[in-house]
Amino acid sequence: MAGLFITFEGGEGGGKSTHVGRLVQTLERRGIAAIATREPGGTPTAEAIRDVILSGAVAPLGAAAEALMFSAARIDHLDKKIRPALAQGKVVVCDRFADSTRAYQGALGNLDPKFIRELERVTVGDTRPDLTIILDVPAATGLARASARRASAPVDRFEAENESFHAALRQCFLDIAAAEPERCVVIDATQPPDAVEASIWSKVSQRLAAAGLLDKTPVAPKPVRKSSKRKEARRS
Ligand SMILES: Nc1ncnc2c1ncn2[C@@H]1O[C@H](COP(=O)(O)OP(=O)(O)OP(=O)(O)O)[C@@H](O)[C@H]1O
Ligand SMILES: [Mg+2]
Repeated sequence: MAGLFITFEGGEGGGKSTHVGRLVQTLERRGIAAIATREPGGTPTAEAIRDVILSGAVAPLGAAAEALMFSAARIDHLDKKIRPALAQGKVVVCDRFADSTRAYQGALGNLDPKFIRELERVTVGDTRPDLTIILDVPAATGLARASARRASAPVDRFEAENESFHAALRQCFLDIAAAEPERCVVIDATQPPDAVEASIWSKVSQRLAAAGLLDKTPVAPKPVRKSSKRKEARRS
């Protein structure tokens, strides 16, 4: 039985990592097998590539080289983790995926859309997300959240970009959502986290029901959120 592939997208500090974690907890409480993963990364090889990309070492090579590095990581991630989990009928919840390459390297890196489309076809093939949740916040809000979370740690390659880059990034994700309304859902992530979580669950539960994956067994009680705070504060 095929599982369900859900991706979270959007700019920095929208709450992607927070809600990937919360969604997987909710699915597990409902007895639905699920894994949380992230891009770039998700496998040892892809995490090694992540470190190189986020260090900024690839940036001087240009957007095309960065897109190729992200794609190399994605090939390993899909082959070793995402496809096997989907084949086992699991729900795969991924923090960023190919839409981030379209937005960061494609649109903002001024790459030819044909190159990005072809790269995505070769890399992703048929394993396209069933549902993409775009957490939408104004750039200033997302950057302020990301900076509060980061505390004194240094900014990474993309956090170091200015606010106009992040405002353009927000628009790229909204454009992707407008172009593929069947796959993408835009959620107002300026709401408090519990309200964002409820909006996400409303969309995810519809898709699970349509895929015959919504379990009818009793739901385990929610854990106390305080214990997961440290985990949620960690960046992915
Ligand atoms: N709805 C919200 N309201 C207020 N703060 C939030 C909300 N959602 C997340 N946060 C907080 O904002 C910070 C950033 O959240 P998170 O790390 O989940 O975002 P992200 O989208 O994964 O960011 P990045 O792209 O930088 O990885 C965290 O400290 C988190 O607790
Ligand atoms: Mg994150």
